[in-house]
This record gives sequence, structure tokens and C-alpha cells, in this order.
Amino acid sequence: MRLSSLVPVLLCTALCPLKSSAHQDAAETQSSAGISRLVNNVWQTVINGGSKPVDLAARAKSDAEAGMARITDDNYDTIFSQSRPDDLWVVAVHGREEDVMSHAYLETHANASSLLKTNVSLTDKAERIKFGRLDWMTDWVLSTRWVMTKPPYVVFITDSGKTLRFASPPRLPANGTLLYTVLTEGYWTNLPPWNGSLSPGGDLAYLVEAYISTHQYLAQYTAHAPKWIWLALPILTTAIGQQIMAWLHSGDDGAQRQRYVASKGAGAAPEKPKAQ
Ligand SMILES: *[C@@H]1O[C@H](CO)[C@@H](O)[C@H](O)[C@H]1NC(C)=O
Ligand SMILES: *[C@@H]1O[C@H](CO)[C@@H](O)[C@H](O)[C@H]1NC(C)=O
Ligand SMILES: *[C@@H]1O[C@H](CO)[C@@H](O)[C@H](O)[C@H]1NC(C)=O
Ligand SMILES: *[C@@H]1O[C@H](CO)[C@@H](O)[C@H](O)[C@H]1NC(C)=O
Repeated sequence: MRLSSLVPVLLCTALCPLKSSAHQDAAETQSSAGISRLVNNVWQTVINGGSKPVDLAARAKSDAEAGMARITDDNYDTIFSQSRPDDLWVVAVHGREEDVMSHAYLETHANASSLLKTNVSLTDKAERIKFGRLDWMTDWVLSTRWVMTKPPYVVFITDSGKTLRFASPPRLPANGTLLYTVLTEGYWTNLPPWNGSLSPGGDLAYLVEAYISTHQYLAQYTAHAPKWIWLALPILTTAIGQQIMAWLHSGDDGAQRQRYVASKGAGAAPEKPKAQ
């Protein structure tokens, strides 16, 4: 059995019963249902040939036409560290080309950008707002560091890359006019900055970094496995972290409840992946 077909099975067994909250947004805590949906997505992506090579030339052309910067694992450090602290980077994180929601988010993002550029009374403001795109499928280091488990996202980045805010469906509908208003009226600042345990600077950030460097080491042996597979591990680390916390606080009511939910979930059969 090829590694790429084995991994989702392992993931499903490991993850289906567990809970995770990637961006520590209380309102959007992922449920076990969310996790099995994610695993299901991962599974379908493998079955449906998710590792199809990206047409880089077509991507570069489309970026240029929309006036977008392409953010990659290789350039993001330079791009963000050289930007001014008051620059706002608005980055659309997209999945594969056929993903309808990613497509809608790219269009939303491009529409917001062109609305902003065409309003001359906003020129000063527009100059400090930069638009970029990030491919979740190919740029796994950044996607892992930001613990992004399910594209698409719009990420609002300030403080030269240090402050991150995430918006995703259904909270941010795919509507270019709406995103334009969110930017011009500053509504994006209502999103809480990501400061959870796994965020850069958080107390569990070392797990994410260790994961990235381990994979960079392993990559030489797994050159044929699709890179985005490795994105799934941060969910696992969060889940394990939560189990450890629950154990450490076992006198605590909330933790007891969490353990109860986890053990109930563990008894359930993992969702059967859809054979194509
Ligand atoms: C340009 O922006 C200003 C300030 O937000 C707004 O009042 C005006 O309606 C906008 N113009 C267009 C054509 O959208
Ligand atoms: C983007 O703009 C085009 C042209 O104005 C419009 O037809 C389309 O619905 C818009 N899409 C989104 C997602 O805002
Ligand atoms: C998009 O958002 C704008 C501004 O909030 C709103 O007026 C418009 O009806 C929305 N369009 C759709 C298709 O929902
Ligand atoms: C994270 O930010 C929120 C405000 O958005 C704040 O209330 C909270 O205390 C912060 N948590 C940490 C661990 O810094």
C-alpha cells in the first residue's frame, strides 16, 4: 500500500474521536463532526488525485492579471519582515483549483482589491493594504505554522507578520463588496488576533516548529507523498495537547466533561471513507 493512501486511514483512526480548535476562536471551535469532515475531505482529495501538479505558469499569469503577490514558503519571511508594521496584508489562502469555495474566496479577494484600487478617494489607505495569495496545497510550511486545517481563508496580517487574524466561511461570506467594506471600514480589527497555544509565541508553538523540522528531515524519504498531508498533524498535536491538559486537570469539571466526550467518541466507529 502506498504511503499516500495509508495516511488518511491512520489519520481517521487517530483523529475522528478527538476535538480540536485551531485558531482558538471560541465561537468557531471545531467539533468532532468538523474533524471527521476534514478527514473525509483529506480522503477524497487523495482518492480524487489531490496531488495533481500545479500549473505554475497558469497560476503566475492569473496572479499577475489580478495584481496579486504570490506568498510562498520561500518568500513569506522576506515579504512580511520587510513590510511596514502598519501595512495590512490581506492574504487569500486557497485549496486546489476545483474547490468551489476556494474559487469563490479568490474572486471575493480579487474583487475587493480592484474595488479598493479604483476608488481614488482611498488611494492613501489602499497604499497600505497589500493583497497576496497562498496555496495551501503547495506551501505546507506556512500553512502548518498558521495551523490552517481547511482552506479557504482570508488572513489579515499586520505588525510585519506578527499579528494574524483569520476569517473563513461561513463567517466571512464570499462577497467582494463585503470584504471591501470590511477593509475600508476597518471591521477586520473586530476579529480577535490569533494568540492561542499553537500560535507563534504560544506555549505549544514549539510542537508546530518541531513538526515542521521533523518533516523537513523526513521529506527526503517521502518525496512522493503529497506535501499537504503533513498539514494534518497539527490537529493531532492539538488533540493530544488537550488530552494531556484534561488529564492534568482531572479534578476540574470541564476537563472531566471533555474526557467523557473524548472517550465516548473513541468508542464510535470511524467514519467510512467514501470509495470513489
Ligand atoms: C470611495 O470611498 C469613499 C470613502 O469610503 C466612499 O464614501 C465612496 O462612496 C467610495 N466611492 C466609490 C465609487 O465606491
Ligand atoms: C466579483 O465581481 C464581478 C463583477 O462585478 C461580479 O459579477 C461577481 O459576482 C463578484 N464576485 C464576488 C464573489 O464578489
Ligand atoms: C454583498 O455585500 C454587499 C455589502 O455588504 C451587499 O449589499 C450585497 O447584497 C451582497 N451581495 C450578495 C450577493 O450577497
Ligand atoms: C488573547 O487575546 C485576547 C484578546 O483578543 C485576550 O483577551 C487574551 O487574554 C489573550 N490571550 C493570551 C494568552 O494572550
